[in-house]
Amino acid sequence: MVASVPLLRRMTELEPWCRSLGEAPVLVPTMGALHGAHGSLIAAAAATGRPVLVSVFVNRLQFGAGEDFDRYPRSLDADQALAAAAGASALWAPSEADLYPLGPAGHLQLVPPEPLVRHLCGPGRPGHFRGVATVVSRLLALSGATTLVLGEKDWQQLQVVRAMLRDLGAPVRLLPCPTRREADGLPFSSRNTYLSAAERQQAAALPRALAAAAASVLAGRQDGQGLERQVRLDLEQAGLQVEYVQLVDPLQLQPLVRLRSLALLAAAVRCGTTRLIDHRPLMTRAPIVAIDGPAGAGKSTVTRAVARQLGLIHLDTGAMYRAVTWWLQRHGLPLQEGPDLEAALEGCGLRLEPRGDREQEVVIGGVTVTEAIRTAEVTAAVSTVAALPAVRRYLTGLQRRYGETGGVVAEGRDIGTAVFPDAELKVFLTASVPERVRRRQADLQQRGLPVPAADQLAAEIQERDARDAGRAVAPLCRAEDAVELVSDGLGIEAVVDRIVDLFRERVPVEAMVSAGDPSAAG
Ligand code: PAF
Repeated sequence: MVASVPLLRRMTELEPWCRSLGEAPVLVPTMGALHGAHGSLIAAAAATGRPVLVSVFVNRLQFGAGEDFDRYPRSLDADQALAAAAGASALWAPSEADLYPLGPAGHLQLVPPEPLVRHLCGPGRPGHFRGVATVVSRLLALSGATTLVLGEKDWQQLQVVRAMLRDLGAPVRLLPCPTRREADGLPFSSRNTYLSAAERQQAAALPRALAAAAASVLAGRQDGQGLERQVRLDLEQAGLQVEYVQLVDPLQLQPLVRLRSLALLAAAVRCGTTRLIDHRPLMTRAPIVAIDGPAGAGKSTVTRAVARQLGLIHLDTGAMYRAVTWWLQRHGLPLQEGPDLEAALEGCGLRLEPRGDREQEVVIGGVTVTEAIRTAEVTAAVSTVAALPAVRRYLTGLQRRYGETGGVVAEGRDIGTAVFPDAELKVFLTASVPERVRRRQADLQQRGLPVPAADQLAAEIQERDARDAGRAVAPLCRAEDAVELVSDGLGIEAVVDRIVDLFRERVPVEAMVSAGDPSAAG
């Protein structure tokens, strides 16, 4: 038998409970009528190892006139049992007077950025997302939670809440969880209980049509508008009343005419009187992350950890430049342009071989050189070799070939600009010169090597930055659409978390599940 969890109703119950924790809870906000998908949100929250507060509040503010506020299912006893079984620490079911002591209209309301609500559910549900942003901000403020778990099924809601947290500067981390589906493919929703058996069969056409569209994209179909038309037709033929079928980009939620490597196909329908929504990520390849930035910003360590966390392959472009350097040195070739270099590149047969831990062995001329390329001799020459146009051309081509099917995280100086300009996420990872000096000194000290004075190291770093930014071939520069991440004062873990969050903002976890990454399914 599963132990029960406390049911907190009044602020006078919530406050002492929160104080007794000694740490901030993870909040899973719900409107109750909990089902399997809520269970997985609660389990994901519990996996953080922190106390989990599940709120149940049917929020009048997010229902429009004529919507189902009065009819919305309410089942607190069953909710308490499900929450306990899924790993919650407490269920919080505040009254409207507790959440909005001045009445719902008496409190500050948060208006989402207009572009985020211009499409999809925005036009059909005016005021809905304002109500959602407002209630989530109240729930966070009252509970003091610093982690918020939400499902990806309501993708537009997720983006609105993200914008809210960002713009309020709220010290809250958002953990999105993939859409959970019932056996017939319909996403879990409290509103599914409104459907009669016959409607239920009809409703299953919604996930089926979207899944068929996703499959046809994987099979090579490219016309975005044709897909929208096809899905609309499928839904209408099933007798569903279509509110919208829209292809949008997952981050900005703006309509796309043409498919990109990743797009979101979303739909809302009415089945009888029940409104249902669903979406599918459409992918022509698995996602790519490009991490660029100056030397000493911690790119290699961060890239490795990001690849591991996201279940992607670490495409070690630095190792490729090192391997070519090693090869040229081994054959006693001058490190300069010319026919010798062209011939050496043509004959080197550089390749990366999967090693089973999302890292790769580096093989050149049939020799595994993963370790051998880490010598001081290679280190001293690699930046000269990397500036040679022929080497650049050769390796950019090779890297692009490795990225054709996606699923990689790569770091360097020109990954987001030259190698993978269509990467789903581009990060420009940097740190101030004094910070990089501090890190370099700590690293040398740890390795028992002589530690030069800070001034000298700062001058070297500045010189290197100027050389990298000023060189004619593939200069270091930030891609226009890259997110700049200044890592001063942040540990590796915090930087990795930030990049993983940026990725999740752009790429639904469900996309990773369909791309076959088992680590995304948990
Ligand atoms: O997704 C929901 O159930 C609601 O919109 C939420 C986030 C609990 C706010 O009322």
